[in-house]
Amino acid sequence: MLIEDRERLISALGGVAKIAGMDHEARADALEDYRSAQLDAAVAARLAGAPTVAEIAAKTPTRTYRRGVGNLFLPGRGGSNLVGEPTEKTVRQLVRMPEQPMLADFFKLRFAPGAHLLQSARLAQRNGASEDVVLACLLHDIANFMLKCDHGYWGAQIIEPYVSEKVAFAVRYHQALRFFPDPAVNYEYPETYFLIFGVDYVSPPHIQAAYDYARNHKWYMEARLVTLNDLYAFDENVTVSIDEFEDVIGRNFRQPSEGLGYDNSPVAHMWRALINPDAPL
Ligand SMILES: [Fe+2]
Ligand SMILES: [Fe+2]
Repeated sequence: MLIEDRERLISALGGVAKIAGMDHEARADALEDYRSAQLDAAVAARLAGAPTVAEIAAKTPTRTYRRGVGNLFLPGRGGSNLVGEPTEKTVRQLVRMPEQPMLADFFKLRFAPGAHLLQSARLAQRNGASEDVVLACLLHDIANFMLKCDHGYWGAQIIEPYVSEKVAFAVRYHQALRFFPDPAVNYEYPETYFLIFGVDYVSPPHIQAAYDYARNHKWYMEARLVTLNDLYAFDENVTVSIDEFEDVIGRNFRQPSEGLGYDNSPVAHMWRALINPDAPL
């Protein structure tokens, strides 16, 4: 069974004010409902074949890669499947990037098809989100091409010199928020996480602390909206081009004239790693 922390529980029961308004019996019922819903979801996932944390960990020595490796460094066009396994045997040849690469060049030549990011951004746009949120959705998993461990933090860092603080915040904290339901906006724990992390997974203390911090921050909703537009952003039949976001990028992403990777910024080397992941040293 998932161990609910206090915040998650309060949030799932509808917030402090709502709980305060319940009598003892209603509170006990709500708690029972919540616990059984959590348990039902975990049991259903287990019955459907979802592994436990220990079962996932036991598979480590059977792999030729680590689960946190970035998609650009894994075989297969899309890099990996949903649970992070390579889909092909060999890596592909990469096309040379322009001398002064811009964000769209990375989408076309390094992240393609990049459907998850593009669909997520389009969904946010259709849901009437602000340009900050649309851009955050477009970039939220950008780190996954490089390194997936703590991808929200890596992703926020690589874009930080070029976007508003709010966009970097949304990208950084979407990682923690994904584990915590918010019934006020109909956000639930993603079922795919039973597969990816294990049915009995509990977020580590740094993620719980990040959630607590973000939950009380003035930009909470920006980060929350990334998780909301993220969850439903997988559709193999929808093709979205980065060109759709030319205006949003133009207004909200300060592209250096030297090109990303060559502007001497503190993160230029990270962009260069995306430009040439075949560099041996
Ligand atoms: Fe993510
Ligand atoms: Fe995502």
